[in-house]
Amino acid sequence: MPPPSVVKAIVPVAGLGTRLLPATKSMPKEMLPVGRKPVVQYVAEELQAAGIPQILLITGRRKQAIEDHFDADPELTAALQRAGNERMLADLAYTDSGTRFFYTRQAEPRGLGDAVLYGAEFAGNEPCVVALGDSIIYGERPGSTLRALVAGHFASGACATVLVEDVAPDDVYRYGIVAPADAGELPIGEPFRLRDIVEKPRVGAAPSCLAVAARYILNPDIFDALRQTPLDSRGELQLTDAIRLLIQWGRPVYAWRLRPSEQRYDIGNFESYFRAFVDFALADERYGYTLRKYLKARAYDI
Ligand code: G1P
Repeated sequence: MPPPSVVKAIVPVAGLGTRLLPATKSMPKEMLPVGRKPVVQYVAEELQAAGIPQILLITGRRKQAIEDHFDADPELTAALQRAGNERMLADLAYTDSGTRFFYTRQAEPRGLGDAVLYGAEFAGNEPCVVALGDSIIYGERPGSTLRALVAGHFASGACATVLVEDVAPDDVYRYGIVAPADAGELPIGEPFRLRDIVEKPRVGAAPSCLAVAARYILNPDIFDALRQTPLDSRGELQLTDAIRLLIQWGRPVYAWRLRPSEQRYDIGNFESYFRAFVDFALADERYGYTLRKYLKARAYDI
């Protein structure tokens, strides 16, 4: 029998991107380029590489560019064919990937949990991936982290599995933070059970420095939990709070820690966006070399 798999992913891309203004005034933050591709294309390629053929994007107002990006453009393709521009045609081949894209709009920005709830009918009775559209996961191979997360989810019999990464104690207020059930050395490369999860705790009040890193495997129970989760103090429905409710209901919730060879790039603020751009531009097989030369030449005044 083939191993159990996940075939659907919900990708929330409805956030306002206020931390990235003015760049995001009229452009979705998920369309910001990291090297030669917009962030959301990395996310779609990660899902494709992990064998997930159906992607639902939860969009919102001013997010039309995302839909256009994944759409075929026959006029552009014909013009490139006429010009014999094989390289650019290859760069656009991603629009013909075989993945089915679905779109729905979140009416108002009422939190990540509210956005995910729009995917309830799409997910149906199967576990699904939730991949936040503003984060890139860089692994040993494309999609390898997500594949491992899915395998760990089924192996542990979890109801929910979240990807986590170590963050600095001063950064916990930016993220969902998990509390492992067992004290002591945490495993890397296998899931570990959680006793709690809290959204954006104050510095000094967090149960650990393990932050939720934008990828989740969720059984359909999450939608019941979301429907019963109270809104937070800002009137938003948080996915973290619904996962917390699952724990309170006694359901097995696990975390999977990023391995040392893996990295999460958060394109939600300028500091980590700049780092992501530099890393991906330096690694670019076509243009990385010239950027390295440029940086070396001016290294003396950095
Ligand atoms: C969201 C989640 C948070 C998670 C983070 C990862 O926060 O609510 O738990 O750690 O994504 O990027 P946001 O960045 O939307 O404020």
